[in-house]
Amino acid sequence: MEHAKQVEILKELMSQIDEKRNVDAGVMVENPVASYTCPDMAAREWETFFRDHPQIIGLTGDLPTSSSFMTVEDFGTPVLACRDTDGKFRAFLNACRHRGVKLVTEERGKKARFSCPFHAWTYDNSGALLAIPQPGHFGAVDKSAMGMIELPAVEKYGLLFVHPKRDGVIDVDAMLGDLAPEIANWQFERMIRTGETTISKRLNWKLANDTFGETYHFQKLHRNTLGQLFYGDNLAYETFGRNHRFVFASRFIDALREMPEEEWALPMGATLLYYIFPNIQVIIGRGTTNLVKIYPHVGDPTHSTSRIGHYFTENALATEKEALATGNALTLAEVYDFEARKEKVLNLAVVNAVFDSTIEQEDYAMGERIQQAAESGALETVIFGRNEPALHHYHNSYREALGLQPLAAYRTGGSAT
Ligand code: FES
Ligand SMILES: [Fe+2]
Repeated sequence: MEHAKQVEILKELMSQIDEKRNVDAGVMVENPVASYTCPDMAAREWETFFRDHPQIIGLTGDLPTSSSFMTVEDFGTPVLACRDTDGKFRAFLNACRHRGVKLVTEERGKKARFSCPFHAWTYDNSGALLAIPQPGHFGAVDKSAMGMIELPAVEKYGLLFVHPKRDGVIDVDAMLGDLAPEIANWQFERMIRTGETTISKRLNWKLANDTFGETYHFQKLHRNTLGQLFYGDNLAYETFGRNHRFVFASRFIDALREMPEEEWALPMGATLLYYIFPNIQVIIGRGTTNLVKIYPHVGDPTHSTSRIGHYFTENALATEKEALATGNALTLAEVYDFEARKEKVLNLAVVNAVFDSTIEQEDYAMGERIQQAAESGALETVIFGRNEPALHHYHNSYREALGLQPLAAYRTGGSAT
């Protein structure tokens, strides 16, 4: 993102804080809770958004060197993604061409060759079938035609895209639209992966997405955690086709008021979140990026799995190392202590653990309760307020993609009465 835009957003957030106002969608809408429970809708979503849609599986740093590989099973098609020995990003159906056994079961690693556990057919990481045992017994196999089945794979702007269908099309610039130059500017390709947390919960995948859709809840739900560090009730918001940019102020924003604008950077005073349709949240902080990938469970609208990948800049890692050595790193007890945060250096491992547990223990815990109410059959709709435009946009985006009507304006009393 250009510096001028960063300054513009920071100023907007400062003025929201000063004037005690929040973003205003101008309208309230009602969301039918059937969207969190309906098996037919879940089946259509699975087909449209997961089995037949380009998937962001990680950042460049997920496959840090040539011959790195990772396996993914979150969207139906088992994928083996890797860099070949020349460093090119590739993706394959994770299945042997002999009898279809899953070739690789490890989640990640580094390998130039993949040997099938069943009968040892062996492939290289460009997908070529190198050898089969006992060829004289097995019969003539044209090895050149029996490589692993390759899937469309594109690495762009530091993001790794895979299409689950062999003939699928990945047009990254069409997917990102006007967001593309801004995404390019953050240089995700320089982020270093340090881990991933998986959270499986009893809530629809869209309720997990909703977690990242408003700052209205900060001073209640997160009052003892994130609420200590963030103002809440402010939001600089912009849509880009089906995607959006969502920025909210931290309390560190006040320190910028004393600094020359040339020295401002958005992550110094705010957290930035990009939603990339249909299931990705990219969260950018100071020296950190978190990639949240949210998946439904096939055939079950009541459960979802979120994978939260953690990435850091080289600088942030170096600073942390130094702070750990000198005893100036933040402790677990100080994570939500604003004064300590000002003095000490982020201990990123600690911050991540807390980031994950806040999502799981606070946000997703609310989502699970909504899920229960939605399944009761006694509640027809929920309301998204004027200060929750990201929820309006997110739900209207997937509804439009499924050919459904946009959300209706809220009628006084709601439609359940
Ligand atoms: S199924 Fe892979 S070698 Fe037989
Ligand atoms: Fe939250």
